[in-house]
Amino acid sequence: MAERVEIFEVGPRDGLQNEKRQIATADKIALVDCLSSAGFRRIEVASFVSPKWVPQMADSADVLAGITRAPGVRYAALTPNLRGFEGALAAKADEVAVFGSASEGFSKANINATIEESLARFVPVMEAAAQAGVPVRGYVSCVTDCPYDGAVDPFDVARVADRLFQMGCYEVSLGDTIGQATPDSIDAMLRAVCQVVPADKLAGHYHDTSGRALDNIEASLARGLRVFDAAVGGLGGCPYAPGAAGNVATEAVHDRLTALRYQTGLDRAVLDSAAGLARALRLHNTE
Ligand code: HMG
Ligand code: MG
Repeated sequence: MAERVEIFEVGPRDGLQNEKRQIATADKIALVDCLSSAGFRRIEVASFVSPKWVPQMADSADVLAGITRAPGVRYAALTPNLRGFEGALAAKADEVAVFGSASEGFSKANINATIEESLARFVPVMEAAAQAGVPVRGYVSCVTDCPYDGAVDPFDVARVADRLFQMGCYEVSLGDTIGQATPDSIDAMLRAVCQVVPADKLAGHYHDTSGRALDNIEASLARGLRVFDAAVGGLGGCPYAPGAAGNVATEAVHDRLTALRYQTGLDRAVLDSAAGLARALRLHNTE
């Protein structure tokens, strides 16, 4: 039986957050509802951040209230601070994520904090989440390259990943935020990170700006990673990472993994429908 590799769908959050014109809440809900029947275990659908920083995500509570929750699917939300966590909890997110950076430049630009300040800010989120029984995932951005600071030292990534794991994140997702990584830089980064966090507690989160995300996934598979974030239709980018293109497309990751004889558990026909919806949202949005 083929080994399972999980794709964590992040399109409704990472994919849509960068769209300039406000997408109707009903359209976001329709996309999530379509994705819910594809076979994912986890879908990131919301972000409880400041609406001044990311206006597109301001209706996150309404999205979580409006979706039809499928059994066995966990609906996730980003929570940068305690206030965000309280919003996510009230909206009944099944899991949340704190997000930090391996580079100081991106940390400041994205969450207006130094790396150290951001880690301190996550502690009360971890405590509140533990009390509420909500699992917390951790993101590390700019794991190889930063749009402000340039090349990132693998040991800086390992240090932040270790801190997130030690504070209780059940999994740490490693972000090539601007899609500049190569299989070699991913391998060097993972060599350092796997010394402090086991590979089965890591995920690869690769943007496809340079068209290398699938090759970077292969390099990560060789290091033992079995979870990858992707966005249906290749939606996305980050408003605080100039030049960041979309996340690697879910359907492309599914096809590559299938060709490599892994099993994703996803229904390709549903992925096609969801990719169609995602592309229509984006086209509609740039009219
Ligand atoms: P700040 O300005 O330093 O903090 O923002 P603040 O405490 O002064 O708050 C500013 C305003 O936001 C205040 O409102 C707060 O009340 C409000 P005002 O008094 O001015 O009216 N506020 C909030 N509102 C709603 N929900 C909240 C919240 N917190 C404060 N949770 C802050 C600091 C972290 C809030 C801000 O920088 C922020 O929201 N940043 C989020 C940026 C973001 O969402 N980026 C994209 C996601 S990360 C990403 O895409 C990377 C990833 O995909 C991995 C990868 O690719 O590498 C995960
Ligand atoms: Mg991202």
